[in-house]
Amino acid sequence: MRKVAIIGVGMTKFGENWDESFRGMVTEAGVKAIQDANIKGDEISAGYLGTMASGSLVGQEHAGALIADYMGLNPVPITRVEGACASGSIALRQGVLAVASGLHDIVVVGGVEKMTDLDTAAVSQILGGAGDQEWELFMGATFPGLYAMMARRHMYEYGTTEEMLASVAVKNHSNGVNNKHAQFQREITLEQALNSKMVADPLRIMDCSPITDGAAALVLAPLDSATSYNEKPIEVVASEQTSGTLALHDRESLTSIKAAKIAGQRAYNYAGISPSDIDIAEVHDCFTIAEIIATEDLGFFAPGEGGRAALEGKTRIGGEVAVNTSGGLKSTGHPVGATGVKQACEVAWQLRGDAAERQVKDISYGLTHNVGGSGATAVVNIFQRGY
Ligand code: COA
Repeated sequence: MRKVAIIGVGMTKFGENWDESFRGMVTEAGVKAIQDANIKGDEISAGYLGTMASGSLVGQEHAGALIADYMGLNPVPITRVEGACASGSIALRQGVLAVASGLHDIVVVGGVEKMTDLDTAAVSQILGGAGDQEWELFMGATFPGLYAMMARRHMYEYGTTEEMLASVAVKNHSNGVNNKHAQFQREITLEQALNSKMVADPLRIMDCSPITDGAAALVLAPLDSATSYNEKPIEVVASEQTSGTLALHDRESLTSIKAAKIAGQRAYNYAGISPSDIDIAEVHDCFTIAEIIATEDLGFFAPGEGGRAALEGKTRIGGEVAVNTSGGLKSTGHPVGATGVKQACEVAWQLRGDAAERQVKDISYGLTHNVGGSGATAVVNIFQRGY
């Protein structure tokens, strides 16, 4: 297998992008990544596009062909992949496999979702299809409800408090202030978070990621030729994808996402490193409890200690491990198919030293953790400098 590097990154602003179409957002992110990579369009030999629900959200299926055509890439094969909120990371992993195998040299990877054209109730119903439609969604359990059950169990087993949950939101909003791509570039206080409106007890609106439009893109190349395109390539050291139980009621535990835990362990093994080697991590904080569970599943903190660690500032920039320097899903927004690709953009910017005010010093390894639904799909990637 060849080593693979990211040679170009690009993304749109995340938020309510009324003025941009689905195809326009992918194109904007893609063109930025292509320019960043210093490649010409005719050097691209394949592409992978992650989108969870373009058919239901904007009425557009056949998204791979649409983008190949609209971006003037025909006859390059662009393959759409879907794995709920992990669709973007699966697209990245498919691109990595294509370059690593030697089948393709220059591959573009994209992720996109346009969610704000519909109202919250309609979007919740569509997203809920990423859980168990028959045993969860049909009974009225949408994602805030599912993660609320995980939060309640974490509180019961470990004494995690609403204050600990809120501290995750406060940190991520604080990081998002310095991210021009973020949907919410504003600080919030612990009091504001704790007094915000209840969505699904104990999760309040400030515990939830929002509904978002946005796209992100990457260009991949073999590591051994990467510096001929970009003087700061970022090596994808490991990329692991796992599957797990779809419905919560079938799980051994509600306080851990087994698929993510296994993906993390496999990624560390592949890279030959341990959790303590990770300096920055973009984790899937679709709800604040999800970030707490992620930091435990990834081995940064012992089971049950993630909430306390967040409250004590161990996950802030300058703490033990800087978690969600971009602002995470909470503040940057969560256009579901784009999130995994956006996480890789942030880690690439951090490793290159291009993250401006939110730059973390002395980074060796960065990690992305992206979960589909309530954890039936998980992807963990590890990155380091390739120069
Ligand atoms: N965090 C902070 N502010 C938020 C927010 C969030 N998650 N969601 C909305 N807001 C803000 C809006 O910007 C708006 O502010 P404004 O009045 O200043 O313009 C206000 O709150 C009301 O927004 P609205 O869109 O009416 O909120 P809503 O009640 O319809 O939706 C949620 C809020 C939390 C229910 C919705 O964002 C949601 O369902 N999030 C979860 C999405 C999800 O499940 N993703 C998949 C995860 S696996």
